[in-house]
Amino acid sequence: MANKFSEILKERLGAGELDYEIGEHANTIPYSLGGMTLASLGLLILTGMLLAQFYIPGPESANQSLHYLSDQVFLGWYLRGVHFWAAEVLTVTLILHMMRVFWTASYKKPREVNWLVGVVLLLLMVGLLFTGTVIKWDQEAYEALAHFTWVGEKLGILGLPLTERFAEGVPMVSRVYMWHISLLPIVTLPVLGLHLFYIRHHKLSPLPESPAGGRTIRFTDHLLYLQKAGAGVVTLICLLALVIAPPLGQAPVHGLEVTKPPWQFVWIYALENLWVPSLIVAPLLIVLALVLVPFVDRSEKRHWRDRPVAVAVLALTLLLMGGLIIWGKVTTMTHSM
Ligand code: HEM
Repeated sequence: MANKFSEILKERLGAGELDYEIGEHANTIPYSLGGMTLASLGLLILTGMLLAQFYIPGPESANQSLHYLSDQVFLGWYLRGVHFWAAEVLTVTLILHMMRVFWTASYKKPREVNWLVGVVLLLLMVGLLFTGTVIKWDQEAYEALAHFTWVGEKLGILGLPLTERFAEGVPMVSRVYMWHISLLPIVTLPVLGLHLFYIRHHKLSPLPESPAGGRTIRFTDHLLYLQKAGAGVVTLICLLALVIAPPLGQAPVHGLEVTKPPWQFVWIYALENLWVPSLIVAPLLIVLALVLVPFVDRSEKRHWRDRPVAVAVLALTLLLMGGLIIWGKVTTMTHSM
């Protein structure tokens, strides 16, 4: 009977495609960070669909509907908390995932394209995080949007769709909500599908210390490991949501500039304090640098000991970003939009 069932799974549903060999090192945390990111993403989609049942888009209603959800709806505060903390945990595992891929030189031949697909995923995740911040429509959200539309204006015709002028009379917060729950997720899903397709196609990169490949396991065994890692991530998120409530201020006062962005964006705030145009220039340079990684580093060396420049670049990037985040948190803004 069990045999018949597995035959059906294989023959009719193509589940045999998942039954291939991969390196034993797949069943370690560093090589499961992408899978853990996926677990948070799943939770975000689920809680997002529930949140959307209670959210009323529009400048007059958005913030109020979230206060109502948190204060009046049964477990509404918890639903919001899980969505918020899933995004926080996703940010952390995503950054660690990228660092692992960089550290083990897994962006090298033949995985260059999947690195680029990853960069697109990163941009989409940043977009989702940013639009999520805006639609709670408190002071922080209002100021984040003001910076965003400022960038849109500066980009001229290219930035037009990001400005109020594009659809006059339609509140920006309603449009940003559409991007958050429709446009960005619709683009994310196929890009994610492509990422997973290439992971299957190239298989997981071998350990840099044994490029010929060592012992192997079945991918289905790795899926069992990922289930446990994913359950760990979900548990952490649920616990965090239980003890720390996500920020939610009152509806914004227009024209004021008094808040700081969340930590994921605060480094730009720090840079902007030095030179306002860095709001546009810094993200562009970072994306360009990420895109160039597999084209610039074309050597076949994969072990970190043989890649002093790559290690130095990673260390400097982490120091710089860490420093800017701390500075952004403590500094006071001396300019205004
Ligand atoms: C939503 C965001 C992302 C998700 C859900 C995701 C998911 C995954 C998963 C499940 C794997 C399999 C191996 C592992 O878990 O380490 C993987 C591998 C990979 N990812 Fe991602 N990823 C994301 C973003 C990124 C980003 C931002 C980059 C780089 C810029 C990237 C580059 C790669 C590469 C090159 C591999 C192949 C690694 C190897 O074979 O060792 N990914 N990703």
